[in-house]
Amino acid sequence: MKERLQAMLEVARGAVCEVETEKSLLDIRIQYLGKKGEMTSIMKSMGALQPEERPIVGALANQVKEELEQLIETRLADIRQVEIVRRLTKETLDVTLPGRGRFAGSKHPITLVTEEIVEIFSALGFGVAEGPEVEKDFYNFEALNIPKDHPARDMQDTFYVSDDIVLRTHTSPVQIRTMLKQAPPVRVIAPGTVYRRDSDITHSPMFHQIEGFLVDHKVTFGDLKGILTTFINRFFGKGVGVRFRPSFFPFTEPSAEVDIQCVICGGKGCRVCKNSGWLEILGSGMIDPEVFKSVNYDPEVYSGFAFGMGLERVAMLKYGVNDLRLFFENDIRFLRQF
Ligand code: PHE
Repeated sequence: MKERLQAMLEVARGAVCEVETEKSLLDIRIQYLGKKGEMTSIMKSMGALQPEERPIVGALANQVKEELEQLIETRLADIRQVEIVRRLTKETLDVTLPGRGRFAGSKHPITLVTEEIVEIFSALGFGVAEGPEVEKDFYNFEALNIPKDHPARDMQDTFYVSDDIVLRTHTSPVQIRTMLKQAPPVRVIAPGTVYRRDSDITHSPMFHQIEGFLVDHKVTFGDLKGILTTFINRFFGKGVGVRFRPSFFPFTEPSAEVDIQCVICGGKGCRVCKNSGWLEILGSGMIDPEVFKSVNYDPEVYSGFAFGMGLERVAMLKYGVNDLRLFFENDIRFLRQF
């Protein structure tokens, strides 16, 4: 019995040493230590031994079994280690291969110009305010000196949500909201989305504006011209032609529209500037005393100017885009260029 155990251990040792793969090693484990394995059959045959021999042989059998388990464990660890080394040397990675380019996305041109304009006005001391796109008639019209039956309402083809609620047609209601909350001096710009029932090559029913206004003691039209000219020079560069043209807005008096030379055609005339060589980029003026009254500012003490600028127009000129609709189509080939 003892010899049988010793002999089995020797044969198993040889087999374990020779084996090369995990799979064959596990087969060996089953062959010797499995339920129907050699170890088990030896254990079973111990019943035939003399009672005094049983504990001795039993102890030896346990020892052999343990040694076998140990052998297999050690060999298993070796085989796994060899496998790791083999894979590390075989599966090499060429780190010099160029990577596959992936487009990380970019900011929309309207976002880009908004950020740039905000930056320029921040440097001039303006803070940023925002207001709701679904707006009360009061803020969008009434408080801006545009009463219900005023013909100026026709200037802005309005989307009405109800009798009293509109999609804001401009960012000017932010003037009212800000001034009602804050005493002068104020110096604020307000970027945002606006809506009008208008759609052609230069108009979209949804577009963007930046409002700007400044109220303090003794603000003059000269300040308005100075700030806007400074802005245009910083944004478009010093060379671009600018003109202030008398205009009318119910909430400013006097009023001016500012045109900038069409940079698409260099002022020669094209379909974007409707052959005039100029493109209107903003409306402006000195804030009307009627507006001050509706926000409880004393027009005898304070004066101010305001302007509203179309961001799509400005982006077209800045980037040489000749169709407004490109900004809203979200064609990836267009957007990737920014
Ligand atoms: N709100 C005007 C518009 O949308 C622009 C404007 C703003 C004009 C402020 C004067 C002062 O056309």
